[in-house]
Amino acid sequence: MTVRRGRVTKAQRRALDHLLPKYDFFAQPFAQLAPLGVEIGFGMGEALAQWGAQAPDWNLLGIEIYPSGVGALINRLEEQELGNVRVAHEPAETVLEEYIPPDSVQEFRILFPDPWPKKRHTKRRLLQQGFVRKLAERLVSNGELYVATDWSPYAEWALEQLSAEPMLENLADGFSVRDDRRVVTKFEARGKRLGHDIYDLRFRRRPET
Ligand SMILES: C[S@@+](CC[C@H](N)C(=O)[O-])C[C@H]1O[C@@H](n2cnc3c(N)ncnc32)[C@H](O)[C@@H]1O
Repeated sequence: MTVRRGRVTKAQRRALDHLLPKYDFFAQPFAQLAPLGVEIGFGMGEALAQWGAQAPDWNLLGIEIYPSGVGALINRLEEQELGNVRVAHEPAETVLEEYIPPDSVQEFRILFPDPWPKKRHTKRRLLQQGFVRKLAERLVSNGELYVATDWSPYAEWALEQLSAEPMLENLADGFSVRDDRRVVTKFEARGKRLGHDIYDLRFRRRPET
């Protein structure tokens, strides 16, 4: 998978051209030693910016392949003067594999991942078994993996994928209640407009693994 193209507004382009170096995970180390939270596929960045404001004593990394989303997030970070968030404009598989060491992440969030509803596209879904193992290995002991989706077949499938990973333990009996710490993202709002239910999944890394 490669970084994608897509329509980028003037403000987003300006952010990408002039401000990315300031927030670039690969170039700009975090200013504090702190727990690490990672959001994968942050879209327009509304939930990540909110997380950054709620948790100033955490370091947060956002991973996204759409340039418009990266530009939008950077503009939010500038506006809100959030210095604890960095962005990796690369596919999550690469970032995890090459830049995130095992036992280093306090919490992963994956909000409304692309559902790839067609059967022949199932293999494109992010939460494949191998990727789930990579996430689990990178969590610290008791660190959390939080997933939300509005697509019920994906929710069932994700529950199966995560439950099948021995390093992970479900924090609920099946789906979790909605976590009100997060804002309604663009894709959650879209799901609701379409009359979809929202499913939250919360797992943690078993301490003995
Ligand atoms: C359906 S959107 C959801 C965006 C946002 N989380 C929300 O709730 O509005 C899924 C996002 O995941 C991103 N994405 C898909 N595959 C990815 C990958 N391998 N690495 C990083 N981001 C990815 C897409 O570019 C897209 O922005």
